[in-house]
Parts: sequence; structure tokens; C-alpha cells
Amino acid sequence: MDAVQHVFKGTFIHSTTRCDLEIIENHMLGTDRVGKILFFEDAQIQSRLSQKWGFDESNIQALGNNEFFMPGMIDTHIHAPQYTFIGIGMERPLLEWLEHTTFPTEDTFCDVELARNMYNTVVRRTLRNGTTTACYFATIHTDASIVLADTASQYGQRAFIGKVCMDHNDTYKKYRETTKESIKETKRFFEVLESKKYDRVKPIITPRFAISCSERLLNKLGKLAEKHDLHIQSHISESPAEIKEVRRLFPDYNNYTEVYDRNKLLTNKTVMAHGCYLTNEELCVFRERGAAISHCPNSNISLCSGHLDVRNALNHRVKMGLGTDVAGGYSISLLDAIRKAIETSKIIFMERSKSERDNNETQNKQQENMKPDEVNEDTQNGPMKTENNHNVLSYKEAFWLATLGGSEALGIDHITGNFKVGKEFDALIINPEAKDSPFEVNSHVSKEEMLQRFLYLGDDRNIKSVYVAGICVVPFPSNT
Ligand code: GUN
Ligand code: ZN
Repeated sequence: MDAVQHVFKGTFIHSTTRCDLEIIENHMLGTDRVGKILFFEDAQIQSRLSQKWGFDESNIQALGNNEFFMPGMIDTHIHAPQYTFIGIGMERPLLEWLEHTTFPTEDTFCDVELARNMYNTVVRRTLRNGTTTACYFATIHTDASIVLADTASQYGQRAFIGKVCMDHNDTYKKYRETTKESIKETKRFFEVLESKKYDRVKPIITPRFAISCSERLLNKLGKLAEKHDLHIQSHISESPAEIKEVRRLFPDYNNYTEVYDRNKLLTNKTVMAHGCYLTNEELCVFRERGAAISHCPNSNISLCSGHLDVRNALNHRVKMGLGTDVAGGYSISLLDAIRKAIETSKIIFMERSKSERDNNETQNKQQENMKPDEVNEDTQNGPMKTENNHNVLSYKEAFWLATLGGSEALGIDHITGNFKVGKEFDALIINPEAKDSPFEVNSHVSKEEMLQRFLYLGDDRNIKSVYVAGICVVPFPSNT
């Protein structure tokens, strides 16, 4: 029988499917030595559990009254070096922002010591905000990217690390590689990472986006990913100017998705950020390939890129998670991504309702001017469609996106995302009554309402502890 390492007792909240949020009170969860969940049972059978698994009362870590466990959150898209300028220079649209702010900053990461400092800060900050898994873009610099992998591993964060590939950059020529270098360094990068045999850190093939890669580079990266069965990440259909440029650079392709797809970069291990302007036809290709979208609502708004219609992507059964897209997004917190995802879907709903009303009004006006026998029966009396906001993303769905949905997007849902027995214990202890908590807890508030209040108003002050694979990684060990 597996030996029990930790036993936790209290309230657990997690998603079991996109719409099903479970709030399970008075339960006990046990983990083994490698952080896997061994049992998750009602605390009423505590004595039976303690006999079966060989623990006693003193081994149990019990939560306080209003505290609860939730799964660790998963950031499916974040640029670690861009934390350097987070919250600064957000006035420009995407392509100008890349040229003036992003590329010059990323270029400084050729300095490994500078990178070490910044990556230390980023990993600590993301962990403290409850990001137990992060899918990182680093820079084109292999050694600095390896430092990011080392740092995530040292702090116990689950992570995918991408050495960025780009052999085309007309706007900031200093920051690019040759095709040959990019391939050679990508190989070196994943070989070094594989040789380090980290427990929870993996390489991910990272063509920056179609504009910054030649067709040859995309093709070689696709083949490399296929040969070594590697994860892939990039950006797609983020802004209108970007799409126009892709069309100019890749005239032989029918659309943006095809640029990646024909070069073997759209697989069931791919996560593409943004996707605001993907057509239904392209979403069907995502679905067929099993490729995922990382929804980055803060960045989409901050850089005035556009909106992703999450409901439509979900209806196409495309895998989806949330991304902070730091520093296109100005918040490192997935709580912010949850809020902005809900707000974006409300904006889309309101815009659609308005345009439907405007259309109806126009039709009514036209009908007023028609002779009676020309009036269309269907729209007679100017029926304004009943307002129905079922298309708005619910808070439960947003919570799912930040946890289980993200794990599915990264293809790690057999390992993390909720508290199913056999998965690893990636969890947050939420304390709604923390010192300086940004919200109040009144006695009449239910557990579900408490969760909602935390999702809308909470922050890292409410995140008391963070566990990855059963290891307590926040508060940080005193030697770090
Ligand atoms: N497209 C290509 N590079 C980037 C980047 O760094 N951030 C965002 N938001 N989009 C990109
Ligand atoms: Zn990005």
C-alpha cells in the first residue's frame, strides 16, 4: 500500500466538467510521497480512513472554518521576460508595441544574470498568485531560457518553457536569429532540459508567431516537434494588422490557421494564444487537430487587439484555457483573467444585443414605410428579442477555464486540474478572512457565495498556501 504523506481536511471546491462545480464540505484528502491524491472521502469515515492508510489525528492538516481548497490555477500563456515592463507602455497596438517596447526589452535577456534576477521575481510572483502551472515564453536566448527552467524547477512550479524562435524581424533587426541558429539552439535547448530530468518542467517548441518566422523555420520546427513528440505554442489571429501582415507574407495559404497546420504545428499538444479573429472554419480545424486556444482577455483589451468569442469557440468544442499574456496583459493573476474573460463575454453579448436591436429598428422603420401587404409577418409589431444572457460565460465556466480547462488545453488533465484520485495535488488554500483581505465575509454568505466573492474581489492576500504535487511551495521556504 502507498504510504500517506499528507492528509488534509476541510472544504474542497473544484470543477468536474465545464459547467459542474463541486463544493465538497467536510472531506479528507490524502497524498502519497510523490504528491498523488490517494483518497478523497467524506470525513465521517475518518477512523476507517486512518486505519486503511495508517495515519492518526496528529497527521491531519485541518482548514479553518471559512477556508477552502481549490485547484492550483493554470496560466496557459505568459511571457516571463515581459514582466520587466508590466503595466507600462500599453498605449500602442500590438505590432508597434512589439517593435518599441517588447523586442528591445527581450533583447537584453542575452545577459544571463539579468535574466536570472527577473525570472526569479516572475516565478515567485506567479506562484504567490496561485499559478501552479505556467506555460512560459522566454526569449531567443537559449542559456537564459534554461535559467527560467531551472528557476521554475527550483521553486517547484509546474511549467512549460519555450525558447522563442524568430528568424524574421524587419522592425527590430537586432532581435532575431538565422534559421539555422534557431533550429540548432532549439535542439540544444530541449536536449539540455531533457538531460536535467526535472520532475515538472518541460520544453515547448515556440515559434513566436507567423510574422516573425520564415516558412522554412516553421516547417523545421513542426518536424522537430513531431519527431520528439513535443508541445508547441505560438500566437494566432490576435489583431487585424497582424492578420493582414500574415496574409502578405504567406500568400499561398488560405488563412492563418493553415500556415501553422500545413507546417505540422497544429497538433493535440499545441496551444495558440488569442484567436480573436478565427473563423468558424478555422475553429473546426482546431477541433479536428485537438489544438487549444489560450484566451488572454486582459491583453486583448489592453492592446486593443479584439475580443475572443469564448462561447463560440467552446461551441466548436475547441480546448480552451486562460492566459495572462503578461505583459500584453497587465495582470499576472489568473483571478484577473477570470474576471476579464467574464467581462469580455458580457461585452460581446451587449454589443450583439445592441446590433440586433438596431437591425430590428431599421426593419421596423422600413416596414412603416411599406404598404400593408408588403409587411413581413415575422417581424410585425417590431418584436425586440427577449433578452437572454445564457451566452455569457458563467463564473463556474471561468473557474473551469482557469483550472481544469487549462489542464486540458496543455494536455496535462490526467495529472492536474482538479482533485480526482490519481492526479497530483496542485492546490491553493484560500482564506477569505485573511489579514487585510480585500473583501468582507458576512455570516450569511454561503460557501458558493464566498467562492464568487474571492473570484471577483480576492487577491494573493487570500492565498494562504500553494501546493504543487503535494509540496508546499508558498509560503516560500526560508532559504529562498
Ligand atoms: N505576438 C507575437 N509576439 C507577441 C507577444 O510578445 N505578445 C503578444 N501579446 N502577442 C505577440
Ligand atoms: Zn503572448
